[in-house]
Amino acid sequence: MDKMWAGRFQKALDKEADDFNSSIHFDCRMFKQDITGSMVHAEMLSRQGIITAKEKLQIVNGLASILEDLQNGSLSFDMNAEDIHMFVESELTKRIGDAGKKLHTARSRNDQVALDIRLYLKEECEEISGLLKELLRAIRNLASEHKNDIMPGYTHLQRAQPITFAHHILAYAMMFTRDAERINDAKRRMMSSSPIGSCALAGTTYNTDRAFEAENLGFTGIALNSIDGVSDRDFCVELLSCFATIMMHLSRFSEEIILWSSWEFKFIELDDSYTTGSSIMPQKKNPDMAELVRGKTGRVYGDLMSLLTTLKGLPLAYNKDMQEDKEAIFDAVDTVKKCIKVFTPMLATMRVLPENMRKAAGKGFINATDLADYLVKKGMPFRTAYKKVGEIVAYCIDNGLILESVPMEKYKEFDPTFDNDLFGEISLDACVEKRISAGGTGPDSVETQLKYITEFLND
Ligand code: ARG
Repeated sequence: MDKMWAGRFQKALDKEADDFNSSIHFDCRMFKQDITGSMVHAEMLSRQGIITAKEKLQIVNGLASILEDLQNGSLSFDMNAEDIHMFVESELTKRIGDAGKKLHTARSRNDQVALDIRLYLKEECEEISGLLKELLRAIRNLASEHKNDIMPGYTHLQRAQPITFAHHILAYAMMFTRDAERINDAKRRMMSSSPIGSCALAGTTYNTDRAFEAENLGFTGIALNSIDGVSDRDFCVELLSCFATIMMHLSRFSEEIILWSSWEFKFIELDDSYTTGSSIMPQKKNPDMAELVRGKTGRVYGDLMSLLTTLKGLPLAYNKDMQEDKEAIFDAVDTVKKCIKVFTPMLATMRVLPENMRKAAGKGFINATDLADYLVKKGMPFRTAYKKVGEIVAYCIDNGLILESVPMEKYKEFDPTFDNDLFGEISLDACVEKRISAGGTGPDSVETQLKYITEFLND
C-alpha cells in the first residue's frame, strides 16, 4: 500500500491494473519540465505565505538535487511509480522529509500534467523549427547551384512546361517556411494560457498567484477558466496537425526523390551514405530513407487521429483517457525530428544530373504552350493558336518529329505567320527565360524566391 492516495482503500491495486495505469515509462521524459514547474510552484507558495521561506528553500534545493542526479545518471526512474509527478514528489520527500509533502499544496496532477506537456512541447517546437531551418538552408543552397538547370515541369505526371530545378525545389522551401510559421503560431497560442493553478478543476481556496507562475514559466497569460485549463488538449491536436503537415510535405518531396532516382528518370543520384542495397539483387541501390519518410507520414497522421478520437467523447474536466495524449504526441515529435534529420543531409549530398533533366525536357512537346504564345504575340487569339499548335503536335507524333525539327515550309502550311524567329522562342532556355511573371520559373522570380528564403533564415 505505497500509493499516495492509498488512505481510502482497503486493498492494494492489482499488479496488472497497476502496470496498466502507470505512465512513468513514457512521461519520465518530462522530468525536467516537471521539476521546473515544481520549483516555480514552491516559489509562489512561499511568496504568498502558504509555505515558509525555509520550506521553500528545502524544496527547491531538493528538486535541484533530483534534477542533477537524474541528469548525471546517479538516480534512475522508479518504474513502479505511477507517473513522473508522483515519482518526483516521493523522491523529494525521501530526501527532505515533511517539507516535501507541502509541495503539492494548491496543485493537482491535473494542472501539473497540463503544464508539463506545454513546457515540453515548447522546447520541441523550438528544436523542430531549427531543423526546418536547416532543411531550408539545404534547399536554398541546392537551388542556387541549379538556377539554370532545366527540367520538365509536370502536371498529372505528364511533361507540361520547362522549369528550372531551382524553381521546382523552391516550391518545397515555401511550404516549409509556412510549416515553421505554423509551429510558431501554435506555440504562441499554447504559451498564452498557463494551466497551473487550475488545480484539480475548480481552482483553489488558497491565495495563489497564477500570474507569477505563468510569467516565470514563460507564459504570456493564464488559462482564465480552470476547467479549460485542465481539460483541453487542443494545443496537442494543433501541433500534431502541424507535424502531420510537415510529414505530408516531406512525403511528397520523398516521392519525387524516389522517382527521380529511378533509372526511368535518373535526375538525381542519392549518395551511398543514404541508400541501401538488396540482399539478392547485386545491382540495386534503393532510396530507403525517402521511402521511410514517406512511410512514417502515415504514422504521424495516425497520432493526430488517435488524439482527436481520444478526446471526442470526453466529458469535462480531466479523465484518465487523457494520459493517452502523451504517447501520440511523443511519437509524432520523435518521428518528425528523425525524418528531418535524415532527409536534410540526404538532400544536401545527392548528386543532381542536369543533363538528364534537360534531355527529358527536350521530349514531350513541353514547349507547345510557348509555340501557341508565339502566334498570340503575332496577333492570333489564344484559343485559335492553341488549336493550331495541337494540330502541329499531332502531325509531329505521326511523323516522329519534335516542334524544333518541323521544317519551316511545313510550319508555313499550318500558318503563314510562322517565321524563322519561332525557333528562338521555343528553345528550352527561352521558354524559361521568358516566363517573367512574378512567381514564375524565370530568373528574376527565382532570385526573388532565393532572397525570401535567405531573409526567412536570417529572421
Ligand atoms: N499520468 C497522468 C496523465 O498523464 C497525470 C494526471 C493524473 N491525474 C489524475 N487525476 N489521476 O494524465
